[in-house]
Amino acid sequence: MATESAKNVKKLKHIALIMDGNGRWARKRHRPRIWGHVRGAGIVSQIVEKADDLGLKSITLYAFSTENWSRPKDEVFFLFKLLDKYLIKERKKILSNNVKFDIIGEYSFLPDSTLKKIEALKEETKNAKGIELNFAFGYGSRTEMVNAVNKFIKNNPNEMITEEDINKNLYNPTTHDIDLLIRTGGDQRISNYLLWQLAYAELCFTQTLWPDFSDSEFESIIESVSSRERRFGGLGTNNSYDKQTRRAKISKDKLANEVRHLEL
Ligand code: FPP
Repeated sequence: MATESAKNVKKLKHIALIMDGNGRWARKRHRPRIWGHVRGAGIVSQIVEKADDLGLKSITLYAFSTENWSRPKDEVFFLFKLLDKYLIKERKKILSNNVKFDIIGEYSFLPDSTLKKIEALKEETKNAKGIELNFAFGYGSRTEMVNAVNKFIKNNPNEMITEEDINKNLYNPTTHDIDLLIRTGGDQRISNYLLWQLAYAELCFTQTLWPDFSDSEFESIIESVSSRERRFGGLGTNNSYDKQTRRAKISKDKLANEVRHLEL
């Protein structure tokens, strides 16, 4: 029989991560910032594996934002290189673990050799039934939403747009809404990340710098968030309108009568 915590974890399908704190991690060790990125990239694989073990359906990692273009050129190119190295190093594991790989964002600026690796891996894994691994690269949420709206208008010039239409025109239309966002590094910001998809997400901010983030901290955050009751704006399972009214020992008729006499 599944344990309570495993059942709870199953309620979470999609986790997004902001991998912050690489630069500070390196500075503390008197190393260049890029050393922090190297160590940060090194732990990505173990976090993805843990997400898979826990039965999550998708994980989305913020690897390069549109705002990151303002960093020194060397650092920016280094991040491109890290993605390329990741694709070479992890390809076999991605394939053997049935991971479905995708990248969201505007990433056509990447070198041709990297773009080829991305397209090949997307193609090779497009029918994979395991966890979905999305890297957000060249990603900005406002750009994603504007693009989604423009795409819709272009194809449907005379129609009103709906939430469903926006969903369908996002970079990755089939992925679930996000259940939990974790940001490492101590800051409590969203940083233009998945603003649409985070509408009902639980948020967790940890002081841990990304290269120190472990699969055990990841698991304990997931377990603790899984036990929170998500009400999506409603009253939740233990707090229905009827139950609350009964607890207040007042009948629906009497309540309606009282509401009628309220002076508003
Ligand atoms: C923020 O830390 C981190 C980034 C801008 C890049 C995140 C990238 C990685 C973890 C490596 C990429 C991995 C792959 C596989 C592509 P920061 O540099 O802003 O840290 P700071 O706030 O301490 O300066």
